Amino acid sequence: MGKSVSDPGAKLFRDAMASFASGVNVVSVWDGDGRPYGMTASAFTSVSVDPQLVLVCLNRGCRTYREIRAESAFGVNILGQQGREIADHCARPGVDKTLPADWLRGPTLNESGNESAPHLRDALAFVDCALDSEIPAGGHAILVGSVRSIRLAESGQAPLVYFRGGYRRISEHPDGRLRAATAQTHPQIHDQRKVQA
Ligand SMILES: Cc1cc2nc3c(=O)[nH]c(=O)nc-3n(C[C@H](O)[C@H](O)[C@H](O)COP(=O)(O)O)c2cc1C
Repeated sequence: MGKSVSDPGAKLFRDAMASFASGVNVVSVWDGDGRPYGMTASAFTSVSVDPQLVLVCLNRGCRTYREIRAESAFGVNILGQQGREIADHCARPGVDKTLPADWLRGPTLNESGNESAPHLRDALAFVDCALDSEIPAGGHAILVGSVRSIRLAESGQAPLVYFRGGYRRISEHPDGRLRAATAQTHPQIHDQRKVQA
């Protein structure tokens, strides 16, 4: 039987999962009207190198999930620490999250000669995928993407990191070691995510 959001066990689960530091991505898709649409998602991982597969886990109630199923394609834009504004924009539930044109690179073709999913110009890396398969998992779906093309940024920008409900940045310590430094947290977004997750 499922646990309610207020269940102490559910809180423990969320708090434990929030202890897993993750990168921050924008999953992008062309919506039914041909507009670039994106949502912030940390549940992304590489699956296989041969064939090249990745996965994202999306709430089945979210609009991006429906658009990806309709389009059978999606992109993953891995954000750098300058992507905080984009992450905030794309994490607001229930509002239109069309991506402004000046955030995007011009049309890019993937290896099949088709236009790739929307590509954020400041992304550290962009992974363009065809939807390969879907595995339902609770209220979410695991979407497996077959990689069509990849673009790596040349900038040395550090990644944006999400940890315990806040965005963090990795900074280089004077002794040469990388460490996670606390950036400004964003409790409102965190709470919204808790409701949806
Ligand atoms: C840092 C962060 C990571 C998130 N990761 C995910 C995720 O992996 N999967 C998911 O379904 N929602 C995730 N969310 C919540 C979605 O971004 C949010 O629900 C979004 O508004 C959904 O948009 P849509 O309904 O327009 O598709 C995350 C939110 C934040 C702030």
